[in-house]
Amino acid sequence: MIELDEVREVGAALERGLSRVVVGYAEAKRVLLVSLLAGGHVLLEGVPGVAKTTLVKALARLLGLTEGVHANLSGVPHRGFARVQFTPDLMPSDILGSLVFNPATRDFEVRFGPVFTYFLLADEINRAVPRTQSALLEAMQERQVTIGGRTYPLESVSAGKFFFVAATQNPVEQEGTYPLPEAQLDRFLARIVVEYPATIEEERRIYELHMKRLTEPLEDLEKVAEPGWVVLAREAVAAGVEVPEEVVAYAAKLVRATRPSVFPPIAEYFELGASPRAGIALIRAAKAHAALRGSAVVEEVDVKAVLFPVLNHRVVPNLEKVVEEEPSQGRFGARYKVIREGLALAERVASQ
Ligand SMILES: Nc1ncnc2c1ncn2[C@@H]1O[C@H](COP(=O)(O)OP(=O)(O)OP(=O)(O)O)[C@@H](O)[C@H]1O
Ligand SMILES: [Mg+2]
Repeated sequence: MIELDEVREVGAALERGLSRVVVGYAEAKRVLLVSLLAGGHVLLEGVPGVAKTTLVKALARLLGLTEGVHANLSGVPHRGFARVQFTPDLMPSDILGSLVFNPATRDFEVRFGPVFTYFLLADEINRAVPRTQSALLEAMQERQVTIGGRTYPLESVSAGKFFFVAATQNPVEQEGTYPLPEAQLDRFLARIVVEYPATIEEERRIYELHMKRLTEPLEDLEKVAEPGWVVLAREAVAAGVEVPEEVVAYAAKLVRATRPSVFPPIAEYFELGASPRAGIALIRAAKAHAALRGSAVVEEVDVKAVLFPVLNHRVVPNLEKVVEEEPSQGRFGARYKVIREGLALAERVASQ
């Protein structure tokens, strides 16, 4: 068991490490760590070239995890980091693994897929067919995989092994994509919206980071913690961070205020509000957020800080309102804006 102080210290070191190679995106960095410590998975949504891959790779590197094998779990090798490009012809067995016939031994043996890893980067998840998406989502949920009738764990507390999926998605809808249904989006603890750099200073700092070198800056990152630290930190957060009754009440009020059937004025923003599962996720994420800022007690600020990333993919925005905003905000900006405004209204209601 580790102390919450250590969660805060190592968490801060991880954040500093991310900031050495990725300019800006303070919220994305924080939510990435929150999700890792809350035992969730993330969906990174953004156009190409905005550092989605870099963020995840950098986090893996800071934990000493690269593409080589880093652990053996009941005889099965697990890599530190694996990336899978999702395409329409990708099959479930390309992710999970399969039984293959070995002519030398005249027997079947298991070929383990890329899911046997600490970090799995599932690039452009919406390009794979639903059957393949489901196979990954099931592994994420169950944290184990069955191949040829045998079940293999993806996580082990005693071995200090965790399993974390970061899936990416380009919000600009294209032909030949299979958008994840709401029910599956719900499996991601957070959807992190990665927009263009906020200011021209950030834009320039990004170029400066790259100007004098040919390789990616993240290749210089050194390890700040062992992978096993993540497993210990998860336990410390789960067991050591307290959620006072008034914060639970606040979260419940907030979640209920996103539902048009409970709070009719929210219908201007949301067609469908958040589920109880979303509420559970909100509390879980708020606990990790509290730990990262060094508090053993969750406060309203922690709930507010994770509200947008944890709920934005679990509500359905009012399409009419989105269309109204499109001329000034663009197609995707409009969707995020309506969701932000709806959540802000729910927040005001919950604070009353
Ligand atoms: N905010 C940033 N800070 C530092 N480097 C950045 C930033 N944004 C982009 N870059 C650099 O731009 C390049 C593209 O980044 P990356 O590959 O992570 O993008 P991506 O979002 O994963 O794109 P794609 O959707 O095409 O996979 C990298 O060299 C990365 O270091
Ligand atoms: Mg990428």
